[in-house]
Amino acid sequence: MDIKSRLEECINFFHAELTLCTNQPELNRFRDTFDTLLSNIKKEILNIPKKVEVLPKLNEYLSYCDNPEDKESNLSVALKNISKSLDWYKILKGADLDKNLVDGLLATQIYGPRGLIKSNNLYFGLFLIAPNVFYPLHQHEALELYYVCSGDLKISHETKKNHNNLESGDFSLTPSNQIHSLETTSKPCLLSYIWLPNEKSLPGKSWWWVKNKNKIWSRVLWQRNSDSTWKIINKEIITEKIFKESGFF
Ligand SMILES: [Fe+2]
Repeated sequence: MDIKSRLEECINFFHAELTLCTNQPELNRFRDTFDTLLSNIKKEILNIPKKVEVLPKLNEYLSYCDNPEDKESNLSVALKNISKSLDWYKILKGADLDKNLVDGLLATQIYGPRGLIKSNNLYFGLFLIAPNVFYPLHQHEALELYYVCSGDLKISHETKKNHNNLESGDFSLTPSNQIHSLETTSKPCLLSYIWLPNEKSLPGKSWWWVKNKNKIWSRVLWQRNSDSTWKIINKEIITEKIFKESGFF
């Protein structure tokens, strides 16, 4: 099967999964987006990468996630089928970052600025998180939907200990600016993500939260580079207003 046919399968099955969720109005924008993708997919021209960077461990993790014994949806199968033909990259750049995070957060775009189909108002792709990775508390202006293809993921939408355990076939929606953190188990986790703009255009602002020794919270601002990786550009103390806007309480 060629890459265009694989992509068409992904769009079709994603559309079908979202159509099953008509009782969740918060997913309406995602359903509308996939209605449009489905209508346009036949005439899209693909931007197939000429040279793809080889990332250590990527194929090992993807093969682990592609266990034929897993019970999985048509959508998970379609996304895994296309996963090895895409342009993967490490999402973080920066000298002072935890190596476990830099090496453990891998992404690829299907729709996006470096995607198979160029788009600046939709990011849709795959996200692979290595085993035993904790992706710290963060927030972004974009509205985010995850679909778990393989593995387990703990997602917490606040700083308290409670979290949701996601597994293959689960969706998770993160509203604009809501703080959240992610944690994998001893297995890699393969997700599909969709980012839609909130009020402004994508990518919008993304912040990571940190608490210092004196229990004061601050946040660092990440800027998206032209190659879609992220780097830190600013830091600020978190005010009462920010706490309230971020779903902290
Ligand atoms: Fe997020």
